Amino acid sequence: MDLGLKGKVAIVTGAGRAIGEEIAKSLAREGARVAVNDLFAERAQRVAEEIRAAGGEAIGIKADVTDWDEVTRMVDEVLTKWGRVDILVNNAGVPAPSAEEDAIPGQYATFAESDRSLWTKYIDVNIYGTMNCTRAVISHMIQQKYGKIVSIISDAGRVGEPRLAAYATGKAGIVGFSKSLAREVARYCINVNCISLGATPHPGQDERTRGRMRAAGMTEEQIEQALKERREAVMRNYPLARGLGRLGLPSDAANAVLFFVSDAAAWITGQVLSVNGGFSMVG
Ligand SMILES: NC(=O)c1ccc[n+]([C@@H]2O[C@H](COP(=O)([O-])OP(=O)(O)OC[C@H]3O[C@@H](n4cnc5c(N)ncnc54)[C@H](O)[C@@H]3O)[C@@H](O)[C@H]2O)c1
Repeated sequence: MDLGLKGKVAIVTGAGRAIGEEIAKSLAREGARVAVNDLFAERAQRVAEEIRAAGGEAIGIKADVTDWDEVTRMVDEVLTKWGRVDILVNNAGVPAPSAEEDAIPGQYATFAESDRSLWTKYIDVNIYGTMNCTRAVISHMIQQKYGKIVSIISDAGRVGEPRLAAYATGKAGIVGFSKSLAREVARYCINVNCISLGATPHPGQDERTRGRMRAAGMTEEQIEQALKERREAVMRNYPLARGLGRLGLPSDAANAVLFFVSDAAAWITGQVLSVNGGFSMVG
């Protein structure tokens, strides 16, 4: 099925790895020209190079989505190169302290133990990141009377998740923002939607966890056992996913994005689509 994405110009934030990487590559496979954004230049460049090596069109752009000046520079670069922006995927949503180490101190603290610096990180990347990128492209989309904005949220923001209150707050905020914006810009043929993911592990995550466990002095056997127990614990929370036989894959998220940005979804706006193996069934 031709999704009608050939020649469209897309920006995908936080696309230097994992789910964003898969979204960027999927858009490129459908013929879109893709700006691969990430906080870390080398990540953005690697993904863009891999897209080009596969015959697609892409540029890597380092920009911190929480920084308005960097975001406007990124959008200017895309407009200078390709003259338009048709698609924005707000995917960056997990704060990244450094390219080497992902763990934010106190990341999984209970709310009672958490402090404002943690809240700020989650709110910044989810709320301000999404608003900055959207604000920077929206006038162009209004002018061209065409645009697709998709934000990646989490079931944590819809049904709650212990130890992730700040993250859930950011994700829930994106829903209100997206629905409000959808009402403002429908008249310009701009669709604004959210995709709510359930647990979507990706290969790099296990590797990074292994590194942290090694550093903490665990043996290889203990590490594999701990990872197995962790996977089983996640699956226990996903009775339907167990029925479906697996947790989420980055390609599940990417396929939902392809649908939302295609004209097959032209009459869908202000919606949240759960891609979660049935974990939550929110109306
Ligand atoms: N993986 C899951 O299980 C899961 C579940 C639900 C929702 N999600 C959502 O999916 C999205 C992608 O998650 P992931 O697991 O692939 O994340 P990830 O941390 O593996 O990758 C995200 C990328 O975003 C980049 N990034 C972080 N802060 C940035 C910033 N300020 N500016 C630009 N880039 C930045 C990082 O450098 C990283 O390369 C996020 O919005 C996340 O909340 C993920």
